Amino acid sequence: MSNNNIQIFDTTLRDGEQVPGCKLNSEQKVVIAEQLDQLGVDVIEAGFPVSSPGDFKSVEAISKIVKNATVCGLTRAVENDIKVAAESLKYAKKPRIHTGIGTSDSHILHKFKSNREAIVERAFEAVKYAKSFVEDVEFYAEDAGRTDNEYLARVCEAAIRAGATVLNIPDTTGYCLPSEYGAKIKYLKENVKGIEKAILSCHCHNDLGLATANSIEGVINGARQIECTINGIGERAGNTALEEVVMVLKQHPYLNLDTNINTSMLFGMSQLVSDSMGIYTQPNKAIVGANAFAHSSGIHQDGVIKNRATYEIIDPRDVGVTESAIVLTARSGRAALAYRAKNVGYELTKLQLDDVYANFLSFADRKKEINDNDIHQIIETSNVYQQIISA
Ligand code: KIV
Ligand code: ZN
Repeated sequence: MSNNNIQIFDTTLRDGEQVPGCKLNSEQKVVIAEQLDQLGVDVIEAGFPVSSPGDFKSVEAISKIVKNATVCGLTRAVENDIKVAAESLKYAKKPRIHTGIGTSDSHILHKFKSNREAIVERAFEAVKYAKSFVEDVEFYAEDAGRTDNEYLARVCEAAIRAGATVLNIPDTTGYCLPSEYGAKIKYLKENVKGIEKAILSCHCHNDLGLATANSIEGVINGARQIECTINGIGERAGNTALEEVVMVLKQHPYLNLDTNINTSMLFGMSQLVSDSMGIYTQPNKAIVGANAFAHSSGIHQDGVIKNRATYEIIDPRDVGVTESAIVLTARSGRAALAYRAKNVGYELTKLQLDDVYANFLSFADRKKEINDNDIHQIIETSNVYQQIISA
């Protein structure tokens, strides 16, 4: 792995599946895991094995079929969780146990009714125990986003001493600003003793809509793994969207940070997850939304028809979308109408277009969007119809 390679840790099947009402069965999870493996993710977090017999079964089934990616199971810093996770991962070619504990004062006081020293000890013991089953152990400091950096560094040092290979720094509540999250990663890189033995991982929630920005700021400041989900699904406002971080890095090559993702599978992957979970993707969702490559205003359409790059920073084919869409509405101009009319078989002269366009506007004021059938109807009811078909 080069030092500029960003590991993509997909948690669609664990954090993503925490969306209320979107539970997947084991067969659906296996299908998604197979596709994630083909997509090129480095790690698949397959579930939280101790949470239910169904989740245990899914993690075990995924461990058996995944060919390339590391398969990971989540645990709390609890011996039985770790033992059960190890058991569920026993068929994985590359197993990873993901264990951890809350480190913010709020978690320590209210959730654990404990104190900082005891939490450091529990972190150490959990990683050490996980290490007795697998070589690859990731430690998470839950609510690291609201944990003070000096204490967080001590917890990370304990996890490294116990053998952690990855340190996950979750902004569990989606609270941090990108500058704060980036500074946190930088602080840990510079102050944690033994940090060269582990990589830092970004796990950002989207409560303030900052998950993607925070993850990118994290890797710019030295993290080498991003935890994310397809379509950004997950608890509350969701997680970092895989398709977003991958495309940010691809579209900004000067950052010199790469992933192993086959981006042409992104759109199909998004549809698979949204269909399997029955969760609708908002049309304006970056990269994979239905409108991500659709142009509807006359000014934009004219530009895109002349040269796609005027209003598109991504070639739609790079993410598996066949072409940009020119959507006809009452805001569209003559260039868009001529373009769409040509696609359905009418080559219009300038004068014919003027006449058809007037008819089009009165149609478009009555209908939200004009489809191919409407175009035929508009042309057939125009004054110049006979002229067009006899040309
Ligand atoms: O958001 C979070 O803190 C988590 C951890 C369990 C990794 O999902
Ligand atoms: Zn999370």
